[in-house]
Amino acid sequence: MTRKVVLANDHGGVEIASAIKRHLEDRGFEVKYLGTETSESVDYPDYAKAAADEYLSGDYDFGVLCCGTGIGISIAANKIRGIMCALPQNRYAAEKTKEHNHANFIAFGGRVDYHDDPLKILDAYIDAKCLEDEKYNRRIAKTLELER
Ligand code: RB5
Repeated sequence: MTRKVVLANDHGGVEIASAIKRHLEDRGFEVKYLGTETSESVDYPDYAKAAADEYLSGDYDFGVLCCGTGIGISIAANKIRGIMCALPQNRYAAEKTKEHNHANFIAFGGRVDYHDDPLKILDAYIDAKCLEDEKYNRRIAKTLELER
């Protein structure tokens, strides 16, 4: 079964999204790409919404969002019910956000100097498992309650 990922970016995330798309395809994922491909200024909430809507209507493993910092587009995505978008600083945080938070989206900043290679951060997220632990599930349930 092909694993599917939705990917979107604003003008601040064009290059990193392109590298991420290649990397995901190299890893065998089918990528639904909804980002802008030019440096012309656009609004990151539009891209967060497009990717979230697609994710929620399709059979996707997870979503990836990129903007200049990763911050605006992750904040926008997290306003949408059903989306838990993480903005990990490094590989450790990427692994933990899958294990402990069950994040279904991961964001990156195209203008950020990462200490770890962003593709390795992405790999850490992909290769981690959502841990079914009573305390993690309770915290996630409490977090989802905040959407009401
Ligand atoms: C666009 O200039 C920039 O504000 C955007 O990509 C992002 O960094 C916002 O959080």
